[in-house]
Amino acid sequence: MSTSTQDSNPATAEDFNSGFRKLNAPPQAERRGPEPEQIKGAVSEIYNGVASWSTHGDFWNWGMHDDALLDEIRSLIPGFDQYDTDGLSEQLYFQALRQVPIPLDGYAGKKVLEVGCGLGEGLNFASRVINASQVVGLDLSRAATDRANARLSRGDQLRFVQGDAESLPFGDGEFDVVLNVESSHNYPDLGGFLREAARVLKPGGHLSHVDLFIEESHARLTQLKQDDGDFEWVEEVDITEQVRSAIRKRLEPGSFYRRNFSSKKLGLKTRIMMGRGGSHLAGADFVGHKDLVDRLLEATRIRPKRVLQDYHSYRHHIARKKA
Ligand SMILES: C[S@@+](CC[C@H](N)C(=O)[O-])C[C@H]1O[C@@H](n2cnc3c(N)ncnc32)[C@H](O)[C@@H]1O
Repeated sequence: MSTSTQDSNPATAEDFNSGFRKLNAPPQAERRGPEPEQIKGAVSEIYNGVASWSTHGDFWNWGMHDDALLDEIRSLIPGFDQYDTDGLSEQLYFQALRQVPIPLDGYAGKKVLEVGCGLGEGLNFASRVINASQVVGLDLSRAATDRANARLSRGDQLRFVQGDAESLPFGDGEFDVVLNVESSHNYPDLGGFLREAARVLKPGGHLSHVDLFIEESHARLTQLKQDDGDFEWVEEVDITEQVRSAIRKRLEPGSFYRRNFSSKKLGLKTRIMMGRGGSHLAGADFVGHKDLVDRLLEATRIRPKRVLQDYHSYRHHIARKKA
């Protein structure tokens, strides 16, 4: 599959603003909300925009903080969190990996896919702690997969393709493990994604799914798990508190996250949308945090008012494809 973008325009921060406006446009009277293709178009613009200002080492998730996980990763990759990272996003990926019932050193000959890989930093990290033969990342944002290929790809060992989670460009039974980290809340059809994930997995292969939920999406997944689908759901862990702990660390004054965000060359409009010090991007809503400056910007309507989502939880599920 080609990942060339020679004929596409480079992504800009304005893509982010345009996508954000589309996704948050008030629904028209005759419609309940944007159509699936409009959602995907807006999501793709948002992440193309974020890719345009992201720097090497940036992750796009809220992270997770758990001392036991941290110790385990440090013993595998000493000093992994000392340079250009706060180590919180890597913990989320480690959580996704270590719960799969394959030992970390048992991946020889195995093929791993991440759906919704963003800039590929998480998959790059994952590929360093397992010895898989082939690791592939897929994302809707072409700017993200282009950057990931340019910076991180290592032949067949690690490569990235642009594509849609609901229509995966892979053959049946190609993969042993499918990872999905903080991405599926963007998909208009979660059931469609699960069908595709099962299709590309070998019988007995595993899906490791990590994401945040609102009441509605949690009810939807609960229903899908009860339906007689392609998966046996073998494990479910509520990691809400560990994710909140990571977000709070990032929101602390002077944190690595805040310093990294401040160093980005962003227009005023985009900074306003992202919340003070990038707090919106860091997951401030999930811990009920709103800076005074953000409150003022919303009160004076300089920034659109963000309605706090009715978050349910942040969870990790492991599912095994039925034989
Ligand atoms: C919050 S980011 C997480 C990225 C990455 N997993 C990480 O943790 O850094 C969500 C990602 O899902 C991707 N995404 C959203 N909808 C998608 C779809 N329908 N198909 C594939 N990727 C999608 C976005 O482009 C974005 O890169």
